[in-house]
Formats: sequence, C-alpha cells, structure tokens
Amino acid sequence: MADWPLPPEPVLPTVDRFSMSELESSPYRCPATLSALAPGKDGDRIEVLRNDEGHTYAVEDGIPNLTHPRELLERVAATAAAYNQMAGLAYEAAMEWQFAAAREDEETVREKMVDLLHLMPGQRVLEIGCGSGRDSFRIGRRLGGSGSLFLQDLSRNMILCCREKLTTEAAEGKTACDLRFHVSNASYLPFEDGFFDAVFHFGGFNEFGDQRRAANEMARVTKLGGRVVFGDETVAPWLRGTEFEKIVVNNNPLFKNRAPIRMIPHCAREVAIRWIIGGCFYLIDYTKGEGLPDWDLDLPHRGRRGGTLRTRYFGNLEGVTLETKQKALEAAARSGQSMHEWLDAVVRREAENQLGDSAE
Ligand SMILES: C[S@@+](CC[C@H](N)C(=O)[O-])C[C@H]1O[C@@H](n2cnc3c(N)ncnc32)[C@H](O)[C@@H]1O
Repeated sequence: MADWPLPPEPVLPTVDRFSMSELESSPYRCPATLSALAPGKDGDRIEVLRNDEGHTYAVEDGIPNLTHPRELLERVAATAAAYNQMAGLAYEAAMEWQFAAAREDEETVREKMVDLLHLMPGQRVLEIGCGSGRDSFRIGRRLGGSGSLFLQDLSRNMILCCREKLTTEAAEGKTACDLRFHVSNASYLPFEDGFFDAVFHFGGFNEFGDQRRAANEMARVTKLGGRVVFGDETVAPWLRGTEFEKIVVNNNPLFKNRAPIRMIPHCAREVAIRWIIGGCFYLIDYTKGEGLPDWDLDLPHRGRRGGTLRTRYFGNLEGVTLETKQKALEAAARSGQSMHEWLDAVVRREAENQLGDSAE
C-alpha cells in the first residue's frame, strides 16, 4: 500500500443540458475520413453525428465525442483516464503550484502566449488540449461577439470544466464569442483543411500519441497566413546536465522531453521558438505558408561559376579530369562567359552534333 495520501476526489461542475440547436449545421468532420457529418436527431435532441460511410459519433450533453481511433493506443487511453481523474480541484492546484514553483506570474505568462496568436475580433480559433480553460477565456475575450472559439480535449471531464468556466465568463459578459466544445484526439482533428484563423495548444503535446501527426494536423486545419502557437515541458538545452535539470525531471519526467523542432511542418514560416517559465517549457509559433520555401531556383548566380540553384543541383554530369577542368576554366574566362554558360553551350553543341536530327 502506498504511504501517500490519496488524491482528492475530482470535483466536477454540474452541467445543465446544453441546447443542441447549435450543432444543427455541424462544423465537424469525420476524424477518420474528413467527410461531412450530419446531425442525427431524436426530436430536437442531436444524438449523433454521422457520415455517409456509416461512421457515427455520440453527442452527449451537447458535446460530440469525435475521438479517433476508437481503440486508443494504450498510453493515450491512460492519458485520457488520468486527466479525467484529475479534472477539477486537483488539476487547478497542480497548475497553481507549477507557476508558483517557477516563480512566474501565470496571468502574465499566459497572456503573452496568447499575444503570439495575433488575434482579431471575428476570427475562428481552435484550442487543442484546452484542459480546464486556463488559456481559453483569454482567447475568447479577444474574439468579440462575431468570433468563434472551438475547444478540444481528449478528456471529457476537462472539457466539462472548461465549458463551466467559459459559460460563467459569458454569463458575466466577459466573453461574447460563439463557443463550441468537443472531445477528440489531437492527432486526428475533426475539421476540414484551413478551417481556422489560428490554432493554440499548451501543455499536452508530450503526451499526444502520434506527435508528428498532431503537429501536422495543427497546420492542416489552419488557413494560409493563419497563426499556430504550441508549447509544452522541456528543459532548455543549456540547462541540461545541471542539478536543476535532475531535480525538475525527478519531480516530473515529462520535463525530459525535447522541443519537437523536427516536427514543425514544411509549410511553417517566420518560425520562432522560445523557452519560457524558468527555461522549462518551449513555445513555438509560426505563420502558415504553403509547401516548401518558395525560393527562385532559376536566379542566375553572379560571378565566374554562374549557373543557378537548379542547374547546380540537377545539371551535374560525370565530372572531368583536373587537366580538362583547368582548360575549360581558361576557355570560359577567355570567352567572357561564366563557367556555366560556356559549359552548357559546349556540351549542348557537341551533344546535338552527335545526335544529329534526332536531337530536335
Ligand atoms: C497539462 S494539461 C494542459 C491543459 C491546458 N492547456 C492548460 O494549459 O492548463 C494537458 C491537456 O492535454 C489533454 N490531452 C492529452 N492528450 C491529448 C490528446 N491526444 N488529444 C487532445 N488532448 C489531449 C489532456 O486531457 C489535458 O487536458
């Protein structure tokens, strides 16, 4: 038997039945296929969301459960269970402790994180792994009455806490935006491509089952030019090997994780990473672009070698002897052409000579 006192029972908010009408035109997609989901109703009550392929997702108290795959990886299921258990006072106490231990003002830190989204009233935003909403209300306040905020978490109890917090905020007139809550897996987001102006996540990435997929999903559901901000525990590289690192990792092994720089998708532009909260959390922010960087691969180099990025990479032949190369350099210099222009003309002329008409 453990000598430690048992954690307090989770104190969950009492939730009134939510109006189902808000789900009439479902903004959600099937997380397995991304096809449209239509509400299946029992009278006025939306019971399920379903698609033409026969996938159905339960809607309980107005909260769709769009978790995919249904059989979660063992450790992802364990994460969901742990947060379901912790939701409530235990989680709030843990958060307060974390900021106090790092001698950080949570209010300031979280407001600065949300600043990086560059939000404007009227935008549509997704928060992934929203937990009990310690960032969510800050995001909601910035969206005005015409904006909408989608709150996502793997843990239903966390979503219930978040809904309680945000509906109280709304009732007090501090948040006016449209609020939508659902349960799903960050690695399979139930939204069409480019649906959001901005996506935010803090604090759960290390526990996401398929992290690379989750990083790609954040980018996929963000529109071109939209903002992505996400962060989680890591001890900054310059603090590794110190006694300080050993102490924080001993307390919480999640601090052993590394910032997922290699998982940042190709489409990320103006990427920044910072280490915050006493150098123990990374925060990555970027603007979504398209594909790989759009360099001009055909811009001629200036100078004796000449050529372009493309010709230097794709135009390589088998090489020549050093003696031939020296002669070619001299001939090119005498002709006043760059090495690329001279070589291209000589090789083309000779190849066309040898191929005759078939070169046309
Ligand atoms: C440490 S809490 C952070 C909550 C909140 N963002 C905050 O800063 O207080 C991590 C959250 O991520 C959620 N989470 C963990 N794995 C997830 C997954 N695969 N998909 C979505 N949420 C997940 C947990 O349920 C939990 O609410």
